[in-house]
Amino acid sequence: MELPLLLLSFLCLCITMLNAADILRNLDFETPPANTTANNTSRFLPLTNSNTIPGWSFNGTVWYVSSGPNISLPGNGHAVQLGENGKINQTFGATDDYLQYILTFTLTGRREDCFNNSTAVNISVPQRSRVFSLQGHFGRNLWETYAFYLGSWGSKVDSINLEITSVTTNAATNITCWPIVDTFLVTRNVMPRWYDGNVLANGGFEDGPAFLKNSSEGILLNEEPERFNSPLQEWSIIGTIKYIDSNHYKVPEGRAAIELVSGAPSGIQIDLILTVGSPYTLEFTMGDANDSCMGDFIVYAQIGTTIQNFTMQSNGTGSAQKHSMMFKAEFTKLTPISITSFNETRTRDHVLCGPVIDNVVLRATASYAVKTKLYIGVFSLPLTLLILL
Ligand SMILES: *[C@@H]1O[C@H](CO)[C@@H](O)[C@H](O)[C@H]1NC(C)=O
Ligand SMILES: *[C@@H]1O[C@H](CO)[C@@H](O)[C@H](O)[C@H]1NC(C)=O
Ligand SMILES: *[C@@H]1O[C@H](CO)[C@@H](O)[C@H](O)[C@H]1NC(C)=O
Ligand SMILES: *[C@@H]1O[C@H](CO)[C@@H](O)[C@H](O)[C@H]1NC(C)=O
Ligand SMILES: *[C@@H]1O[C@H](CO)[C@@H](O)[C@H](O)[C@H]1NC(C)=O
Ligand SMILES: *[C@@H]1O[C@H](CO)[C@@H](O)[C@H](O)[C@H]1NC(C)=O
Ligand SMILES: *[C@@H]1O[C@H](CO)[C@@H](O)[C@H](O)[C@H]1NC(C)=O
Ligand SMILES: *[C@@H]1O[C@H](CO)[C@@H](O)[C@H](O)[C@H]1NC(C)=O
Ligand SMILES: *[C@@H]1O[C@H](CO)[C@@H](O)[C@H](O)[C@H]1NC(C)=O
Ligand SMILES: *[C@@H]1O[C@H](CO)[C@@H](O)[C@H](O)[C@H]1NC(C)=O
Ligand SMILES: *[C@@H]1O[C@H](CO)[C@@H](O)[C@H](O)[C@H]1NC(C)=O
Ligand SMILES: *[C@@H]1O[C@H](CO)[C@@H](O)[C@H](O)[C@H]1NC(C)=O
Repeated sequence: MELPLLLLSFLCLCITMLNAADILRNLDFETPPANTTANNTSRFLPLTNSNTIPGWSFNGTVWYVSSGPNISLPGNGHAVQLGENGKINQTFGATDDYLQYILTFTLTGRREDCFNNSTAVNISVPQRSRVFSLQGHFGRNLWETYAFYLGSWGSKVDSINLEITSVTTNAATNITCWPIVDTFLVTRNVMPRWYDGNVLANGGFEDGPAFLKNSSEGILLNEEPERFNSPLQEWSIIGTIKYIDSNHYKVPEGRAAIELVSGAPSGIQIDLILTVGSPYTLEFTMGDANDSCMGDFIVYAQIGTTIQNFTMQSNGTGSAQKHSMMFKAEFTKLTPISITSFNETRTRDHVLCGPVIDNVVLRATASYAVKTKLYIGVFSLPLTLLILL
C-alpha cells in the first residue's frame, strides 16, 4: 500500500503542475484589442482590420464587449460577440501523451429572450465540433458555462486549432442575439484511474472540466452518447446535467459532483463488461446541492434490465444519503448502468435543479476481499509522467 500512495501523491503533484499554467493566451479577453479608441465608452466595439485581439485571430463581424448594467459576464470584465460570419481562433500545443484536453467556456446573449437556440456557437478542433446554444433556466445569470471534450492527441500532433464561430439562425438576424463568448479555459486531465475494488473509474466525478474561478453557477454538460468523448471522464451524459463544485454547492465528497437538472430526462450512463452470473453491488450517494431545491426527488438506477427507484424529500439544505442495490450480471457483452432523474424541480428563484449524485461505486460482491487493489493504470501513469519529466 505504501508504494501506490507515494505514487499517487506524486501523481497529484504532477496534476497540480500540469494545470498551473493557462493553456490559452488571453483566455478571458481581459487584454484589450490593440488599436481601439481608448476613450470610446461603447460596450460593443466593432473590430476592424486594424485591430488585433492578443492571443487570438478573428474574422467576420466581431465586437469587443465590456460588461455593464445589461451585460453580465462571469467576473464581469470583457468578452467578444460574434456576429455575421464571426469567428475567433487560437492554436495551442497539445503534445502530452496520456492527457485529455477539456474546454470550459461561457456563452451569453445581450437579451433575456435570446434563447430557443437563437444564440449559438460552433466550437471546433480538428475532427470534432459541437454547437452550443444558450438555454436559459439553468442558472441565476443570463450567461451559462459549458464544457467540451477536445481530445487526446499524444505526440501525433504539434498544435491544435480551437475555432469558435457564430451559428446563423433566423432569430439571429436581430444582432442583439448574436452569441457572446468568454473565458476559454482549457485544462488537462490524466487518463481514467481505478481504485479500491471499484469496477468504475471516476465514480466520484472528480475528473471533469475545470471550474471557472469567477463563477458560482456550475458547468452545464450536454447530452453526450459517446462516453469516450465526454467532458465528464468515463460517463455518457443523458439530457443536461450540471457539474457542481464544493466551493459553491453541497457536494457529498471531494471537489465535485453532478446535479441532475433537466428532468427531461437527466442522467449519466456507463456501459461495462461484467462477469455473467456474478453478483455485484452498486452504491451511490444521493442528496441535494444546498441550492434551495425543494421537492420529491426520484432517481432511477438501471443495470441491464434491473431498475430500482430511490426517493428523497429535499428541503434544499444539503442533505445526502447513501444507497445501494444488488444485482447479478446478465449480459455477456456490455451492461448499461445508468442513474437518471425524470422529474422537474426548481429552486426558490425558479432555476431548474435536481438530485445530486456522487460516489458511484460498483463492486463485484464475491471478490470484496481485493479491496485495496489498485489497478495497473495507476502504476503506469506516474511512470510515464516520470519519463516525460
Ligand atoms: C477620442 O479620441 C479620439 C482620438 O484619440 C479623438 O479624436 C476624439 O475626439 C475623442 N473622443 C472623445 C469623446 O473624447
Ligand atoms: C464608439 O464606437 C462606436 C462603434 O464603433 C461608435 O458608434 C461610437 O460613435 C464611438 N463613440 C465615440 C465617442 O467615439
Ligand atoms: C494599428 O493600426 C495601424 C493602421 O491601421 C496599423 O498600421 C497597425 O499595424 C495597427 N497596430 C496593431 C497592433 O494592430
Ligand atoms: C476571413 O474569411 C474570409 C472568408 O472566409 C477569407 O476569405 C479571408 O481570407 C479570411 N481572413 C483571414 C484574415 O483569415
Ligand atoms: C438595459 O435594459 C433596460 C431594460 O431591460 C433598457 O431599458 C435599457 O435601455 C438597457 N440599457 C442599455 C444601455 O442597453
Ligand atoms: C487561426 O487559424 C489560422 C489558420 O486557419 C492560423 O494561421 C492562425 O495562426 C490561427 N490563429 C491563432 C492565434 O492561433
Ligand atoms: C421559445 O419557444 C417556446 C416554445 O417553443 C415559446 O413558447 C417561446 O415564446 C419562445 N421564446 C422566444 C423568445 O422565442
Ligand atoms: C433547440 O435545439 C435542440 C437540438 O437541436 C432541439 O432539440 C430543440 O427542440 C430546440 N429548441 C427550440 C425551442 O427550438
Ligand atoms: C431586436 O430586438 C430588440 C429587443 O427586443 C428590439 O427592440 C429590436 O427592434 C429588434 N430588432 C430587429 C431588427 O428586429
Ligand atoms: C418505485 O418502486 C416501487 C417498487 O420498488 C414501486 O412500487 C413504485 O411505484 C416506484 N415508484 C416510482 C415513482 O417509480
Ligand atoms: C432539512 O432536512 C434535513 C434532513 O432531512 C433536516 O435535518 C433539516 O432539519 C431540514 N431542514 C429544514 C429547514 O426543514
Ligand atoms: C415524476 O415524473 C413522473 C413521470 O414523468 C410522474 O408520473 C410523477 O408524477 C412525477 N412526480 C413528481 C413528484 O413530480
